[in-house]
Amino acid sequence: MRQILVAGNWKLNGSRDSIEQLISGIVAGADKTGSTQIAVCPPFVYIPQVAERLAGSKVAWGSQDVSDQDSGAFTGEVSAPMLNEFNCTYAIVGHSERRSLYAEDDAFTARKFAAARKAGLIPILCVGETLEEREQGVTESVVARQLDAVINLEGVEALNDAVIAYEPVWAIGTGKTATPQQAQDMHAFIRGTLAGLNAGVADKVQILYGGSVKGANAAELFAMADIDGGLIGGASLDASEFLTICSAGA
Ligand code: PGA
Repeated sequence: MRQILVAGNWKLNGSRDSIEQLISGIVAGADKTGSTQIAVCPPFVYIPQVAERLAGSKVAWGSQDVSDQDSGAFTGEVSAPMLNEFNCTYAIVGHSERRSLYAEDDAFTARKFAAARKAGLIPILCVGETLEEREQGVTESVVARQLDAVINLEGVEALNDAVIAYEPVWAIGTGKTATPQQAQDMHAFIRGTLAGLNAGVADKVQILYGGSVKGANAAELFAMADIDGGLIGGASLDASEFLTICSAGA
């Protein structure tokens, strides 16, 4: 039985003060969310603040991105071993905003995935199609290609220590959620693809849905057989909304 994981992706939002308030609100209600695993992913500079506040709580933390390099002359990068020093559990890799706004391709994403794993972080590998790709009927082949890049580099067993997030790009930040059935169909496709390579991995890996998840729609999404929680953007910036989503998985 896979546990539900709800991870907040705060993106480029927050200040010391607003994060202090957000974390206080989340910590105050986290114990009432049953067996749901919870994580938050702040901007890099706020990770120490979040780590200090969340230590000893039920809420884990992670980064929104990670370098494919461990150290060296790579200006502006933050490496997985550095994130480890701040006890990050997770690192998001291949978010569609990284892919589309910063031209990060499948191969680069796979190297980031590898770097995160090597340092003991759990990568949250984001996959998903654009609206144009869905309309062209190539949704499955796009997602398969995104998964293959990681599987070819690291082997399917690497997904034993990873989380997958299916995030249709057209549903991110748009208020347009995939229907539970649309999401379930893609989650089943992902799990089925993995099952063709290794049934144990397919059975174990948590596959999160992301894209306009809110308190009002989380329960019906999380009730689907292959949806094991959510990667939450906008709604993770409001403690009570985020906790409602976490409770939907309990
Ligand atoms: P959203 O973002 O919940 O604001 O749609 C999800 C994500 O980008 O991870």
